[in-house]
Amino acid sequence: MIVKFSGKVVLIAGGTGGLGHAVSLAFLSEGAKVVVTYRNQKEFDALRSAAGTNGSSLEGRRVDVTDEAAVRELIDAVFAKYGRLDGLVNTVGGYAGGVNLWGTDPKLFDQMLTLNMRSGYVLARATVPAMVKQGFGAIVNIASKAAVDHAAGAAAYAASKAGAVAMMDSLAAEVKGTGVRVNSILPSIIDTEINRKAIPKADFAQWPKPEDIARVILFLCSDEAKVIHGAALPVYGES
Ligand SMILES: NC(=O)c1ccc[n+]([C@@H]2O[C@H](COP(=O)([O-])OP(=O)(O)OC[C@H]3O[C@@H](n4cnc5c(N)ncnc54)[C@H](OP(=O)(O)O)[C@@H]3O)[C@@H](O)[C@H]2O)c1
Repeated sequence: MIVKFSGKVVLIAGGTGGLGHAVSLAFLSEGAKVVVTYRNQKEFDALRSAAGTNGSSLEGRRVDVTDEAAVRELIDAVFAKYGRLDGLVNTVGGYAGGVNLWGTDPKLFDQMLTLNMRSGYVLARATVPAMVKQGFGAIVNIASKAAVDHAAGAAAYAASKAGAVAMMDSLAAEVKGTGVRVNSILPSIIDTEINRKAIPKADFAQWPKPEDIARVILFLCSDEAKVIHGAALPVYGES
C-alpha cells in the first residue's frame, strides 16, 4: 500500500501520548505537515527528537483540547498558516475503572465524559465548518473496544467511549456528501509504556502496537479510504 501525505496538513490532538506519538511519526514519515497538541514539554521534545529530519514538518501547540476558545484559536492558526486541514486525529482520552457505577465519584464520571467525549465535540465544532467549506478532510476519533464491550467496573469509561462513537456516527451522517469523512477507531489494550507498567505480567506480544494502529489511522485519512465513512473500526489484534 502506498499512501502519500506530501503537501497535506494533519492535526493530531494528544499527538505526544502513547498512541499519538506513533501516529504523529507515521504522518511525518509520509510527508505530512503535522501539528500536535501537547501538555508536557518533555513529551513534545521526545517526539521532535524521534522525528529526526522530519522534525522540520512538526509543530507543537500546548492546548487543552476541552477548552473551546483555545481550540478555536488553534484551528484558526492552522488555517491562517497552511490554508488547509486534511486530517484531524483525536487521540486525547483517558481511562478510569476498578469501581462500580454507584461507587463512581461524580467528578470522575464528569472527567471521563470531558476527556473522552467533550474533546471530540470541541475539536469537531471548531474544525468541521472549515473542512466542509474547503470540501475535504478526514476525521478519526479514537474511542475504545469498551464502547461496544461493556465490562464491569468501567461504566463511566464505557459510557464516554460509546457516546463518542455515537457522536462521530451522527457527525458522519451530518457531513455526508460534503467531502469530509468521519470514522472512529476502537482499540483494545494497546502496547504502551503506561500499560506495561500497569500490568507487568501481561503477555505484551498480544497487544497491538501503537505503530500498527497508526498505520490504520493513516489509511483512514488517506484517499485510499475514500469509501470509508461512519465506521467504528475494531483494532484488537489478537487480544
Ligand atoms: N492505551 C490503551 O490501552 C487504550 C485502549 C483503548 C483506547 N485507548 C484510547 O486511545 C487514545 C490514546 O490513548 P493513549 O494510551 O495514547 O493515552 P495517553 O498516553 O494518555 O495519551 C493521551 C494524550 O492526550 C493528552 N491529553 C489528555 N488530556 C488532554 C487535554 N484536555 N487536552 C490536550 N491533551 C490532553 C495527554 O497528556 P497528558 O499525558 O499530559 O495527560 C496525552 O499526551 C485515548 O482516547 C484512549 O482512551 C487507549
